[in-house]
Amino acid sequence: MLCILHNHPTRMPEAPKIFNVLKDNIQRIDHIIKSFLTFGRQEKPTKEWIDVQTVLKNTLELATNLRQFDQIEICTEFAADVPAILGDQHRLTQVFVNLLNNARDAMAERGGRLTISYERDGNELRIKFKDTGKGISAQDLKNIFTPFFTTKEPGKGTGLGLSISYGIIQEHGGSLDVESREGMGTTFTIRLVIPTISSDHEKSKT
Ligand SMILES: Nc1ncnc2c1ncn2[C@@H]1O[C@H](COP(=O)(O)OP(=O)(O)OP(=O)(O)O)[C@@H](O)[C@H]1O
Ligand SMILES: [Mg+2]
Repeated sequence: MLCILHNHPTRMPEAPKIFNVLKDNIQRIDHIIKSFLTFGRQEKPTKEWIDVQTVLKNTLELATNLRQFDQIEICTEFAADVPAILGDQHRLTQVFVNLLNNARDAMAERGGRLTISYERDGNELRIKFKDTGKGISAQDLKNIFTPFFTTKEPGKGTGLGLSISYGIIQEHGGSLDVESREGMGTTFTIRLVIPTISSDHEKSKT
């Protein structure tokens, strides 16, 4: 049906408009269903050795090629030689996608800059997503990790992204924190533990 509408706009002049409305709504439904499925999923996460930097880079490459990110300048500050950690790359990808989408939405009106940094401090791996978007009010800040809390218009957000992300980072033995000031921007910080045996794992690869 969508293809017919899209490929034959001359037969129905209003077809492109209808096509876009249908496409938008299908994307919304898809997003809501995916969020609910993840929220309800109880299975144990897999744990394997992963290079979080590669997972992050792959996610960024996919997301930032989308036109929704055209107005956003993306800067990366990635430290070299950060060892692998034990984790679930699909779940971590989900966290990164949600933080990217939230930053995009916060800068949707005026554009801005998203700085993603990745550094090691002892046995801690720290990943920051710092945006120059609209920020979060002190009142909302208390609620953002609560399931179904959203300030987005109906159909645009389920309010599950951050609560799912929080749970995923906790499952990894880490933490997810936020700092924000209204009108100034927001920084999310993920902290993950680098297991001491990780260096041995790295050595065994060479
Ligand atoms: N980077 C950010 N800048 C400003 N507000 C933010 C940012 N990230 C999150 N928020 C606020 O936190 C709320 C909850 O975020 P969360 O990711 O849980 O849900 P959502 O983005 O509204 O919906 P979903 O993630 O399900 O699409 C958002 O609606 C928004 O008000
Ligand atoms: Mg979100």
